[in-house]
Amino acid sequence: MSHYLLGVTGASGAIYAARTLHYLQKSGHFVSLIMTDAGKDVADYEGQREELFKADEILDVKDFFASCASGSSAFAGMAVVPCSMGTLGKMANGVADNLLTRAADVCLKERRKLVIVPREMPYNWIHLKNMEQLTLAGAVVIPASPHFYAKPQTVEALADTVVAKILNHLDVPNAIVPEWGSNK
Ligand SMILES: Cc1cc2nc3c(=O)[nH]c(=O)nc-3n(C[C@H](O)[C@H](O)[C@H](O)COP(=O)(O)O)c2cc1C
Repeated sequence: MSHYLLGVTGASGAIYAARTLHYLQKSGHFVSLIMTDAGKDVADYEGQREELFKADEILDVKDFFASCASGSSAFAGMAVVPCSMGTLGKMANGVADNLLTRAADVCLKERRKLVIVPREMPYNWIHLKNMEQLTLAGAVVIPASPHFYAKPQTVEALADTVVAKILNHLDVPNAIVPEWGSNK
């Protein structure tokens, strides 16, 4: 069992976070949830707050005394999903002004897995530069770009095409989307 952090911001797509939480827990992992204020509001609005509150631990985004604010805390990695352009900008520039951005900063400095799932369209130059900066710092940017070639029949299955990629990059084996070519 590993310990993962799930950061949820005020970008659209709380379903991606809820599904990520579901599969992490199903795989036997312990998940700590950190939601920004806007993240709570948008998750509420998108009907996902209840699902997200199934996390094993819910941390206060203002609590810098939480263990994951320190590099000495042995969590395995973190996903920020969905990631707003505001939080993206903070993380890309070392602005650790809340527990979510501080934990992301800890991931980068300790060379742990940091998966960022940005959601916006279109991207402006600042967004793209921030994604470049985070990639150079060691994060993996996985845009919330679902695919259709697995022929998903439900919104959940469509969201899971993104979630499978998040789990892969957190080193969590899953069979959500069959490996391409495996059905031949
Ligand atoms: C319904 C709704 C959807 C939003 N979707 C996005 C989005 O997809 N991407 C984004 O960057 N901001 C989005 N926003 C705006 C963010 O919530 C806002 O910039 C907020 O300050 C982000 O704060 P946070 O990064 O602390 O969560 C949305 C806001 C609302 C109310």
